Amino acid sequence: MQFKVCIVGAGPAGFALAADLESRGTSVLVYSHPTHIHHASYVIDKGCLRASGTMESSTNIRITFDMRDVIAFSKFIILTVPSTGQETVLCELKEFALHQHTIITIPGNLFSLIADAEMEIGCILETNLSPYSCRMNQGELVVLGKKSFFFIAALQNDLSPAFKDKIRRIFPIELKWSSNVIEVCLSNINGVFHPLMMIMNAGRIESTSGDFLLYRDGLTRSVANAMLAVDRVRLEIGEAFGFQLDSVIETSNKCYGADFTDLVDLAQNSEPHNKLRAPSDIENRNISEDVPDLLVCWHGLAEKLGIDASPLKAVIILVEMATGIGYMESGRNLRKLHLEDLTRSELLARFSVPHAR
Ligand SMILES: NC(=O)c1ccc[n+]([C@@H]2O[C@H](COP(=O)([O-])OP(=O)(O)OC[C@H]3O[C@@H](n4cnc5c(N)ncnc54)[C@H](OP(=O)(O)O)[C@@H]3O)[C@@H](O)[C@H]2O)c1
Repeated sequence: MQFKVCIVGAGPAGFALAADLESRGTSVLVYSHPTHIHHASYVIDKGCLRASGTMESSTNIRITFDMRDVIAFSKFIILTVPSTGQETVLCELKEFALHQHTIITIPGNLFSLIADAEMEIGCILETNLSPYSCRMNQGELVVLGKKSFFFIAALQNDLSPAFKDKIRRIFPIELKWSSNVIEVCLSNINGVFHPLMMIMNAGRIESTSGDFLLYRDGLTRSVANAMLAVDRVRLEIGEAFGFQLDSVIETSNKCYGADFTDLVDLAQNSEPHNKLRAPSDIENRNISEDVPDLLVCWHGLAEKLGIDASPLKAVIILVEMATGIGYMESGRNLRKLHLEDLTRSELLARFSVPHAR
């Protein structure tokens, strides 16, 4: 029988994976939330999904706006909404019995800790990144690059080799199994890149409506220095749990098979990055997703572990002052992640790799 997968999230990341899966013989159903039909409507009107860039294809994609179709179509559901949309999806999923289903969130940003407290799901996995770097323009998918691997972990840590093999066959890239979902969340380096690149270029974004190249023109030496301060906190949190995290530049280099010497070299010369235009304003997911669902969460973990979190706090507070949005409260703080009541030792006992305790 043909393998079937549902993709919940009809944006570039979801459509790129859908086209890729269909090209490899998997049958796909894409779900677009009824109030987020922008990209799906274009694809339906055109009658197929056309992809250009590093993926050249034209694919017929089944699309639904009804979650009942998703639950019935496959036991494998891949979430490709931004993490800010995961709770909307969770509200819909709660209407169904999912103990036989597997949910894979791209990226997870610790969705599993929130979902697990709300409902029973057979298995929840999280990845750190989307396999593709891609954008959509009026229903046409432009694929800028494909990573060579991503990190993945399940909330449940007793997955059989046969089950892991099934998960591996879904994705077009190598999977690196992490110790747990916290290690995966710390490996989402968008939290290092995006918020600082946006906030340190806020004036330029607003005065030009984003008419410049975000990485090539916006990631200069002083922006890179600030990113490295944030990265040091991320690495220190990882060290406390006993994870072997790579620095931001090492992670990016390994993902894209590149060898840039530092962040400025990457910003100037990396093909998937150096042609990306800046967003037209700072109310963009580089802020609205990566500040509340990565930096706030890393900040909470650092404070609980007794690590100096001031570089993270500085960025969060600056973003709060610029946007007027209380991300520290609304984001994935330890209370939202159901980790607030754990002591430092309990947190480490639950998530650290054994030799670090
Ligand atoms: N695209 C990439 O190159 C890339 C690279 C690395 C990581 N990622 C990550 O992968 C995820 C998906 O990326 P993407 O570019 O496909 O994102 P996207 O286009 O911003 O969002 C994906 C889909 O989710 C919908 N959505 C947004 N908020 C929602 C909500 N509250 N409830 C239900 N649906 C909602 C969007 O609708 P609207 O169009 O109405 O917003 C869109 O249809 C994001 O977390 C992103 O950070 C993407």
